[in-house]
Amino acid sequence: MLGEKNILIGVTGGIAAYKVVEVASRFKKSGANVKVMMTRNATEFVSPRTFQEITGNAVSVEMFGDAANFHVAHISLANWADVILIAPATANFLAKAAHGIADDLLTTTILAFDKKILIAPAMNTKMFENPATQENLKILKARGMKILEPAIGNLACGTSGKGRLPEPEEIFAAVEKIFAPKILSGKKILVTAGGTVEAIDPVRYIGNRSSGRMGFEIAKAAVSAGAQVILISGKSELAPPKNLKFVKVEAATQMREAVLKEFDSVDAVIMSAAVADYRVKNPAAQKIKKSSETLTLELVKNPDILKELGTLKKSQVLVGFAAETQNILEYANKKLVEKNLDFIVANDVTADGAGFGVATNIATIIWRGGEVETFDKMSKAALAEKIIERVADLLEKDKKFFPLNDNQ
Ligand code: CTP
Repeated sequence: MLGEKNILIGVTGGIAAYKVVEVASRFKKSGANVKVMMTRNATEFVSPRTFQEITGNAVSVEMFGDAANFHVAHISLANWADVILIAPATANFLAKAAHGIADDLLTTTILAFDKKILIAPAMNTKMFENPATQENLKILKARGMKILEPAIGNLACGTSGKGRLPEPEEIFAAVEKIFAPKILSGKKILVTAGGTVEAIDPVRYIGNRSSGRMGFEIAKAAVSAGAQVILISGKSELAPPKNLKFVKVEAATQMREAVLKEFDSVDAVIMSAAVADYRVKNPAAQKIKKSSETLTLELVKNPDILKELGTLKKSQVLVGFAAETQNILEYANKKLVEKNLDFIVANDVTADGAGFGVATNIATIIWRGGEVETFDKMSKAALAEKIIERVADLLEKDKKFFPLNDNQ
C-alpha cells in the first residue's frame, strides 16, 4: 500500500529515536520513498548517517545549509511529502507545533505542510501528563493531526508508565492506514451497541453486562472505511465516536423503533447490541417499596429486532452476534438461519480474553452456507476491522444473500 508514497519522517531529540531507524527501514522495504529531517538535538541520539544509509536519501537538519546550494528546503520537503510522521515527538516539539513556532527546519516544514501529519509522542510520564503537554496535544488533534498514543512500560529515565514510543510495527500500521482504500465509501451502515435497559420502576431496571465496546469499535471502523454510519446505542459508558450519527436509546422497544426508522436507507446492519429478551410487563409508575418478603415481576418477551430485519431485508447485508456460554457453533448457526443473516459473529463470553468489558475478543464467524472462520484472540478494534472488511466484501461483490433468489 505504501509503494510510491513519499514519506517524510521528522525525528526530534528523544532516546526513542533509535526505534525510528527500524520504522524508516520498514517504509523503505514496503516500496515507499523515505526522507528524514532531524532536529539538532535528535542528532545527539542517532547519527544522520544512519538514516541516510537506510533511506538512500540525504538527511536534512539545518535550515540554512551551504549558501551555494541553497534551496528552500522546508518548502521543497513539504511539497514532496504525501505524509509526515514525527517520531519520537518531544514535549518541546508538541509545544512549538501547537503554537506555530517555526525555529528550525522541522517545525518550519510542518507549518508549510497541508496534508496528513502523524505524531508519535514519547517522553517521561509526568511530562506527558503535564497539563501543558495535554493542552498542546488537544490543539494539534483539533487541527486534524493524528496522535499515536504512547505505550505504557519502562522508560529511559528509569521509571515506568505511559510515555514509550509505540513499537515500529504499530507506527508502520498507523501510516499504512492513512493510505488504506476507503472500502465502504458511499455506503450507509447501521450499527447497534450496548445493552438495553428495561424499566422495573422509575429507579430500577433490568440490564446486562454489555459495555458497548465491540459495537463502538465496529462503528469507528466503518467510519474509517469511509461509510456514513448510524450508531444506535443502549447503555454504555463510552463517549460517542466522532463523525457519525449517534442515537441513544434505552429499552429494546425503543431500539427497534430507531432501527426500523433507518433500515430502508442502509446498505448493512451490524447488530452487536445486547438486546434484553424480556421486559417487565407493567413497570411501576412509582418507586417500589420493600413492603413484602418476596417480589414477583412478570416479564413479557421483547421483539427480536434482528429476526424482524431478516424478514424485511431486501438487499441489505445483515450481521448478528451470538454471545454464548456453551454449544457456541450450534447455537450461533441456529440464530444465523432463524434470523436470515449473511454471517454471525459468535463468541464464548466465558473464555479468558473474551466477553463483557474486556478490550479483546475471541471470535468465530459462521457464514450463510456453513463456512466457518476462526480468529485468534485480538483486540475488539482489530476484530471490528475484520468484520467491516467482510461486510465491504459482501457489498462490493454483491455476494450478499437475496431472499427471492436464493439457490445456494
Ligand atoms: N437480537 C435482537 N433482538 C433481540 C435479541 C437479540 O436483535 N430481542 C440480536 C442481537 O443483537 C444479536 C443476535 O440477535 O445480534 C443474537 O442475540 P442473542 O442474545 O445472542 O440471541 P437471542 O436471539 O436473544 O437468543 P438466546 O437469548 O435464546 O440465546
